[in-house]
Amino acid sequence: MQPRDTHLAQLYETSCKACHTVRDTGAPLTGDRNAWDPRWAKGEQELTRNAVAGLNGMPPGGQCFACKPEDYAALIRFMAGR
Ligand code: HEC
Repeated sequence: MQPRDTHLAQLYETSCKACHTVRDTGAPLTGDRNAWDPRWAKGEQELTRNAVAGLNGMPPGGQCFACKPEDYAALIRFMAGR
């Protein structure tokens, strides 16, 4: 799976994907609604904040140095299957 937007797809390829498609990382997997539903319940703002600040095994910013705040929101929507 890939974001349809080419800009987002590039960011995803070079950062989020490395963990969010690999079960052993403990990251909620892209498109796995069961994994994302309880996280989605926190609200988009909270998820974006945690992605930027980091959370346990989730590194601050998801190792994406080119990601802007609106990119995080869109990447999260994509990975959470929204
Ligand atoms: C080095 C591995 C790694 C990379 C790269 C990574 N993540 Fe994560 N991410 C994780 C892990 C592990 C968790 C689970 C953290 C936890 O809940 O303990 C996580 C959780 C999350 C969460 C859920 C936060 C919450 O509040 O529940 C979001 C949102 C997220 N990542 C977004 C992203 C985005 C967007 C990118 C790319 C820009 C990204 N991640 C890149 C490892 C990664």
